[in-house]
Amino acid sequence: MADVILISGSPRAKGNTEYAVNVCRDAIEKRGLTAKVISLRGKPIQGCIACGECAKNGKCSLNDALNDMLDDIKEADGFIIGAPVYFGTARGDVMNLMQRLSMVARANGNWLSGKVGGPVVVARRAGVMSTLQEMLMAFFISDMIVCGSSYWNIAYGHAPGDVANDKEGIATLEKFGDNVAKLILQLRK
Ligand SMILES: Cc1cc2nc3c(=O)[nH]c(=O)nc-3n(C[C@H](O)[C@H](O)[C@H](O)COP(=O)(O)O)c2cc1C
Repeated sequence: MADVILISGSPRAKGNTEYAVNVCRDAIEKRGLTAKVISLRGKPIQGCIACGECAKNGKCSLNDALNDMLDDIKEADGFIIGAPVYFGTARGDVMNLMQRLSMVARANGNWLSGKVGGPVVVARRAGVMSTLQEMLMAFFISDMIVCGSSYWNIAYGHAPGDVANDKEGIATLEKFGDNVAKLILQLRK
C-alpha cells in the first residue's frame, strides 16, 4: 500500500514512460508521501467486455493484472498513469486499464472519486495533446482531482531513456508530482 499509485503503461524495459513516472514518484516522495510504481511491462490488459460482473463482486471478471492492482489503487489518495503515444493515441492497454478501472470503481460506490493525480504522456514527436485529452476523460468522469503544472504533462523521447534530455518536460513532471503531493497533504488537514 502507498499514498500514491503510479502506473507505467509501456511494455519496454527502462522506457521513457517509466522514467517520466519515476520523476513524478521522486517529487511525491520528497514531500514525505509514499509512492509505488506499477509497470504494465509483461502484463497485458484486456479490454472491458461489458459483462457487468464487477457490480456483483467488486472485481473484474477478466482475471489479468488489473485485479492485482485494485486494492493498491483503492487504498491510495493519489493516482497517476503514464502512457506512450501509439499512432496518435494512448497505448491500447493503458486505455483498457482506465476503462475497466473506471467501471469497477463506478459500479462499487465510485471509489476513484476524490483521488488526486492525472495522466502523463510521452512520445517521439506528435499526438501528445489528443492522448492527454483521451486519458483525462476517465479522470474527470470518475470525479478525480487533476493537478496542473507549469506546462501540460508531456515529455519527448524515442529510444529508452531519451526523455531525460527533455529538460522542460522533466521540470513539468517534477512540478506535477509536487503539486499532487501538496494537494493530498492539504486535503488531509
Ligand atoms: C506502435 C508505436 C506507435 C508509435 N506512435 C507514435 C506516435 O503516433 N507519435 C509519436 O510521437 N511517437 C510514437 N511512437 C514512439 C513512442 O511514443 C516513443 O518511442 C515513446 O518514447 C515510447 O515510450 P516508452 O519508451 O515508454 O515505451 C510510437 C511507438 C510505437 C511502438
